[in-house]
Amino acid sequence: MGYNVAIDGPAGAGKSTIAKLVAKEKGYIYVDTGAMYRALAVYFLEKGIDAGDTKQIIAAAREAEVSIRYEDGVQQVYLNGGNVTSKLRTEEAGNMASMTSPIPEVRERLLELQHSLAREMDVIMDGRDIGTNILPNADVKVYLTASVETRAKRRYKELTEKGLECDYEEIAKDIQERDMRDMSRETAPLKQAEDAVLVDSSNMTISEVVDTIVKLCR
Ligand code: DC
Repeated sequence: MGYNVAIDGPAGAGKSTIAKLVAKEKGYIYVDTGAMYRALAVYFLEKGIDAGDTKQIIAAAREAEVSIRYEDGVQQVYLNGGNVTSKLRTEEAGNMASMTSPIPEVRERLLELQHSLAREMDVIMDGRDIGTNILPNADVKVYLTASVETRAKRRYKELTEKGLECDYEEIAKDIQERDMRDMSRETAPLKQAEDAVLVDSSNMTISEVVDTIVKLCR
């Protein structure tokens, strides 16, 4: 078993930014499980399947083979043999992932991949149910959150810096809806594990959050 650090929290809390930096400092592999759900979402979108059509989603999930490779330490996500990493970070893929990830068969599809990575390597794995479900015996568990306002502001800044047009109110609404879906679903809902350390980054700098988590690690 590798050394396992689990980071869960809502969309936009900064999990991936923080996890990448902790990984670098501690020499862990960063495993982004949201990207796995997004890869399946890309497949559903490419096939033109409606998120509400559970039967078709389950059938398509069976056909979709998601795998992960690390190239220069950076996670690359493959879908049926093709690299889809550049297609994952769109709002469309995020929303499709959020709408289809409650389906148990979809979660089941990614379980072995997540377990095997944690077994074989020292990882910092981020997601929604890592500390509660996937790695219940993780060496360190963190629940990283921030207010809706903070998360929406960060997302707005990120998108405008990329030159993309966006609306703050829309982003905030999207975040609230995503939180609602991720937290209220029956299968593996987003919640803080009992033994997770709560880190609210609303009024913290990135390096303060990284330091806090690094101190929890061996
Ligand atoms: O972290 P993210 O925004 O890339 O995740 C996209 C969606 O995938 C998120 O809304 C919920 C789902 N997800 C999940 O259900 N379980 C995980 N461990 C990671 C992501």
